[in-house]
Amino acid sequence: MCGIVAYIGRRQAKDILLEGLKRLEYRGYDSAGVAVMNGGLKVARAVGRVANVEKLIEERGDFTGTIGIAHTRWATHGGVTERNAHPHRDDARFGHGIAIIHNGIIENYASLKKYLEEKGHVFTSETDTEVLAHLIGELYQGDLEKAVQSALREVTGAYAIAVVCEKEPEVLVVARKGSPLMVGVGNGEYVVASDASAIVSHTTQAIALGDYTVARITREGFRTATVDNVEISAEIRELEFDLEQIELGHYEHFMLKEIFEQPRALRQTLQGRIDVAKGQIVLGGVGEHARRLANARRVVFVGQGTALHACMIGKYLFEDLAKIPSEHDFASEFRYRNPIVEDGTVVVAVSQSGETADTLAALQEAKQRGALALGVVNVVGSSIARETDAGVYLRVGPEIGVASTKAFTGQVLVNAMLATFIGRRRYLSQDFVTNLLRELERIPEKIERALEWSGRIRAATAKYVHRENWLFLGRGVNYPVALEGALKLKEISYIHAEGMPAAEMKHGPIALIDNGMPVVFVATRNSQYEKVLSNIEEVRSRGGHVIAVATEGDEHIRSLAQEVFYVPDCTEMLQPLVTVVPLQLLAYHAAVMRGKDVDKPRNLAKSVTVE
Ligand code: M6R
Repeated sequence: MCGIVAYIGRRQAKDILLEGLKRLEYRGYDSAGVAVMNGGLKVARAVGRVANVEKLIEERGDFTGTIGIAHTRWATHGGVTERNAHPHRDDARFGHGIAIIHNGIIENYASLKKYLEEKGHVFTSETDTEVLAHLIGELYQGDLEKAVQSALREVTGAYAIAVVCEKEPEVLVVARKGSPLMVGVGNGEYVVASDASAIVSHTTQAIALGDYTVARITREGFRTATVDNVEISAEIRELEFDLEQIELGHYEHFMLKEIFEQPRALRQTLQGRIDVAKGQIVLGGVGEHARRLANARRVVFVGQGTALHACMIGKYLFEDLAKIPSEHDFASEFRYRNPIVEDGTVVVAVSQSGETADTLAALQEAKQRGALALGVVNVVGSSIARETDAGVYLRVGPEIGVASTKAFTGQVLVNAMLATFIGRRRYLSQDFVTNLLRELERIPEKIERALEWSGRIRAATAKYVHRENWLFLGRGVNYPVALEGALKLKEISYIHAEGMPAAEMKHGPIALIDNGMPVVFVATRNSQYEKVLSNIEEVRSRGGHVIAVATEGDEHIRSLAQEVFYVPDCTEMLQPLVTVVPLQLLAYHAAVMRGKDVDKPRNLAKSVTVE
């Protein structure tokens, strides 16, 4: 969602801010803006791409200055207009010259706005952020840090903010609660951003601000304190990724790069965690809770979108391998359904970004009710990672494409390792575990083979890309893969697609099938293969065109399907790790053929930090 960049140092702020905004474009946004301090504040805002703001700045030619703030906005309060774009200012008539950028939602903005209007403030936008700007202005008494702290004490909701003030032109104040914010620490300069991708080209030393922390930054140094002004120490850490990970390289899109990165990424996920020779699985992040996990009575997986599909697969894996009753739920539903959390309940929050507001809230709710909270998260130090009692990082590297690909396979792989880790402490024999680890070790190589089909998948996609309605069907552990295939196709190509259990089709959706409708089946050889073949027949007899993901060597399926994409055979519970790959490629090629912005699909944000 919204992206924040702020700079204070000795270089021209606008260059660093614009570069940072471009790095944050993947988060999803619909307008952007920059403010630079040079005596007074210079502000440029525009609807659309960062390039539009860059053009404005070039045309105006007066954006010099070594302190500034910049923002990409994903509209929540108020439409996509220049007036609603950030930065927002305090009321000009009170004359403090305050400008603010904000990610998050000020939930009590309406009552604050009423209070400020009664005091004579006039608002120029429909945003909650402008209310915060005016509130800081209202409370300003010559000390920006204090005014920000006082304002934040009045605020409920989530925020990551950066604030500058014409009366203190050498000071930058930043703060966070619930929305991510990092301070990159350079040599006499600081780059503040929503995530590390806007920082790493300048410095690899950074502080991940904690909730309710306010930092006052000057070129000489910084001070961190709570909103109640209790001084706190900040830990500077080395950022764990290099620039190459967030560059396109020779790929046309990040999504394609990330699809093809999966073998390497998953090798990293496995590295040092499985020892096939010893038949051991070592998950340092959950080690100290091993006994409690082995005694768990119920496991609840929570997540959203693609992460929810990984949760569903987690449920199958845990029931099959760890033999613990397991369930999954949308984090957004779990949170508000008054969930029963009995003794022995483990809640697993699955999230790439570690910042999804619904997932974070569900996790907090579960913890409050006494559950052991685990995280299956990619971004190190993210809010969800910090909130959990224990967890296992995905280690798949930064995911830039809005459509989640390598994070999905990373999540499934971690869930499989967790299930095996617990299963071994319950019922699984050593031989079984050794064989399973061998299978896990071969997964990256099998994905490499699945990727070789990219060209043929593109050719097949071309035949159906004009169709507006698609079905994706699978059974058992491949049913969530069908859901994931449908989600991928709709989110980046805007084709309507539905995923469901193959058996469910005849309870209603079969009415949709007409001549030539593409129906994608995950039809690999496993315990449900024969049943899936029957469902394929049902589609064929109604004129639907079958696109099958099948096991290498399955010649029979060629006679049933118009198109077949083969994947290497593997044990049933691990099949999603390979069967999803052709579906990722199909969605990618369809989006490219339809001329869509693959990495930045309309209306979508990479990490959804509002409920
Ligand atoms: O960062 P998270 O894994 O928590 O994100 C959850 C969903 O928002 C995310 O998976 C979304 O569905 C993706 N765009 C799907 O490709």
